[in-house]
Amino acid sequence: MLVEIRQLRDQFDSELEKVHSPEEAQSVRIKYLTRKGLIAQLFDNLRTIPPEDRPQIGKALNDLRVHAQHAFEERLAEVSSGEKDQGAKLVDLTLPGRPVWVGTEHPISQTLNEIVRIFTRMGFDVAEGPEIEDDYHNFEALNFPPDHPARDMQDTFFVGEGILLRTHTSPVQIRVMETRKPPVRVVVPGRVYRNEAISARSYCLFHQVEGLYVDEGVTFSDLKGTLVFFAKQFYGEKIRYRFRPSFFPFTEPSAEMDISCFLCNGKGCRICKRTGWLEILGCGMVHPNVYKYVRYDAERYTGYAFGIGIERTAMLRYGIDDIRILFENDVRFLSQF
Ligand code: DAH
Repeated sequence: MLVEIRQLRDQFDSELEKVHSPEEAQSVRIKYLTRKGLIAQLFDNLRTIPPEDRPQIGKALNDLRVHAQHAFEERLAEVSSGEKDQGAKLVDLTLPGRPVWVGTEHPISQTLNEIVRIFTRMGFDVAEGPEIEDDYHNFEALNFPPDHPARDMQDTFFVGEGILLRTHTSPVQIRVMETRKPPVRVVVPGRVYRNEAISARSYCLFHQVEGLYVDEGVTFSDLKGTLVFFAKQFYGEKIRYRFRPSFFPFTEPSAEMDISCFLCNGKGCRICKRTGWLEILGCGMVHPNVYKYVRYDAERYTGYAFGIGIERTAMLRYGIDDIRILFENDVRFLSQF
């Protein structure tokens, strides 16, 4: 009887081995594992075995049944997924591996981080503020008169009564001065929002890096020295620069800084619109009215502030001519940086 069990097991194994579809596997199961199957028939024979041999034979039979059931289930799974047969034939070890996609830092982040690094090396701290702001911090405390055109619905996304998406990072100047006493020296990177028509040159959101330095005896020469140092670090030692008078409600005097076009070296090209100059930032001396809002002594302290548009900077630097591509998250574009 033990020999018969052994033979049946070999026979079962070799039949199962030849199976290539779930249907074929099922017919092997029916042949061996059902109530009238070959294994059950051997169990019936147990009755004819002398009682003293039954435990041993019974155990061997049981082992066979368990083995057959497991082997069947395993084989069924193999032929169902086609894994074993195809896998064995199709693995080509000479094929190159699948590429591992490594992400790159977004050009906006690269530009922003590099600007922040240049200023932190000069001793500036990094500060941040909320993107959902109130009218007070975004406009009023920055000395925007109540009827100033920048408050117009055209530019500002309002969230609720007196609550809005900040239109610049300048409100963080106010938040920093509300919580710290001079000397204050911070740069503020962040996202800002404007309700403008979307085009190649403007998008509804963009990034800025704000700067603020307030202490006793800070002068316009300090502003120039710091910003010229920054521009040479970022654009290269060879650039020339100029400061043009400008206007911002929260600075007096106000200026815009231009550098000689680094593409044509000042000769005039498409990027600098034939002027030879590129505007890179707005700046000025903090307006005394702003100190009143944050309770700084305007007689004792002076300071400067500046704001740099990141998208514009990145577009100039990398020669990108449409701002919208920076927000599309197309890997074919992003993987170039
Ligand atoms: N907040 C200004 C803007 O969004 C940029 C700016 C100009 C910031 C002059 C400053 C500054 O801090 O001094 O257009």
